[in-house]
Amino acid sequence: MAPLKWWETATIYQIYPRSFQDSNGDGIGDLPGITSRLDYIANLGVDAIWISPFFKSPQKDFGYDVSDYCDINPEYGTLADFDEMIAKAHELGLKLMIDIVPAHCSDQHAWFQESRQSRDNPKADWFHWVDPLDDGSAPTNWLSFFGGRAWSWEPRRQQYYLHNFLASQPNLNHANPAVRDALTDVARFWFDRGVDGFRLDAVHTINADEAPYQDNKPNLNFVPGPMPQDQQPFFRQLHDSAQLNQPAIQQFSEAFRAVADSYEGDKFLMGELHGDDPILASQTFTAPGRLHATYNFNLLEWGGLSVAGLKEAITKAIGAFNETGRLTFAFSNHDVPRVATRQLAPLGLTEDQQEAMQLLLLKLEISLIGSTCIFQGEELACADIQDIPIDQMQDPWGIEFAPIFLGRDTCRTPMVWDSKAPQGGFSDANQTWLPVAEAHKKRAGLEEAGRDGSVYQDLAAFLAWRKTQPAMMTANQMTEVTGGETELVFDRISETQTLRCRFDFENLTASFEEI
Ligand code: BGC
Repeated sequence: MAPLKWWETATIYQIYPRSFQDSNGDGIGDLPGITSRLDYIANLGVDAIWISPFFKSPQKDFGYDVSDYCDINPEYGTLADFDEMIAKAHELGLKLMIDIVPAHCSDQHAWFQESRQSRDNPKADWFHWVDPLDDGSAPTNWLSFFGGRAWSWEPRRQQYYLHNFLASQPNLNHANPAVRDALTDVARFWFDRGVDGFRLDAVHTINADEAPYQDNKPNLNFVPGPMPQDQQPFFRQLHDSAQLNQPAIQQFSEAFRAVADSYEGDKFLMGELHGDDPILASQTFTAPGRLHATYNFNLLEWGGLSVAGLKEAITKAIGAFNETGRLTFAFSNHDVPRVATRQLAPLGLTEDQQEAMQLLLLKLEISLIGSTCIFQGEELACADIQDIPIDQMQDPWGIEFAPIFLGRDTCRTPMVWDSKAPQGGFSDANQTWLPVAEAHKKRAGLEEAGRDGSVYQDLAAFLAWRKTQPAMMTANQMTEVTGGETELVFDRISETQTLRCRFDFENLTASFEEI
């Protein structure tokens, strides 16, 4: 059996740069701030970091709207700051992954600025430009994920362009090989600077401008639900562009993989696939020569999961493991309420049980086959902040749908490092981009790192122990998930060890026994 690659068992710490550590007093986190906290991350014992986008961007979607993929947004620092950060990460034994957004860019990107000018400029075909219908309306009834229509009007071209997210995030046209080439140049730029891999954003929304565009059909059984997309009867049904498995996605994945394979040192490509059927995803997205792993959404359920729900979610995901398909699990990220918040209510727990629950969930996801992404603050058992006043909200998705839906600010508030320092040690500014959470002050990072029995310390001990377990580190084998109503049980198996892993949701404890 071939030895496992680093990313097959990696625990990856996700940093949301805007909220991690501010070094220059502007109230916004930055790259030198991250560099100054790398020891804290390395001491936890994780293998890698993934940093959400810090590229040049007007920040309409906080970096997921890139205006230059090969430069740093000034509020986050400079390329020299990046070089310093990656050098220190590598010195500390941490791999560094960055977040590339291949499906769309910012309307401020030079590509779009040129494309929108006319129907015959050199970039004319880099986006999805479509003529209006005879009555002047948009080509289809498709809706944007962030609200409103997925088409916006460009008077210079007298055409509509497509955007799955904000109107300021036009979809790139992946039918055009020049777009693919430009993005693989971006991959080379960052691999040359030493990055160890990419998280590829919203891979499922990569698309080609394939006419004829067809309307989604009305859903006759439509009942509005709690999420914005559940309130839009035509949202993502039959024909809109967010369908899995367009050939353009796979061509893109193959091109990126060829670039990754041309570098030494096991570069890692992890594709975010929302709404995925994990089995279909592994058969297609991680087929040989494509992505290494899909970032799986089964555990990210917005409303939280019961124990039975967890069992089902894991069973479904694990079914996707095959010769090539690999998975990355996550319970929290910058797009969903933190797991400490989600899991308290459905399981009927009090806030006091938050720490035990958080540790249990971390141990569970890290014990599964595949890699794991933990989100900044999970090692502190931070829950979400529920009381951000509407006039201080920042997330465009939340602003569009508030107050029925509050968006993603609740999980994006700044890290608290030191309960006694102004702004919890996050920033010297009087005002930070999102308010620092009072409730997080009793979970300050530096204090928790030094406190016996904290989630940080218990997680660090668990990660160190795991590295010594052949069943966890040398083979991708796991039995099906069993257990009574309040527990999850499975075995991890290697040639030399079988480890029974038991997660008890009644007592909120995890135990591991060699059998
Ligand atoms: C990212 C989001 C972002 C969206 C559009 C996602 O999947 O994680 O934060 O808003 O892609 O780029």
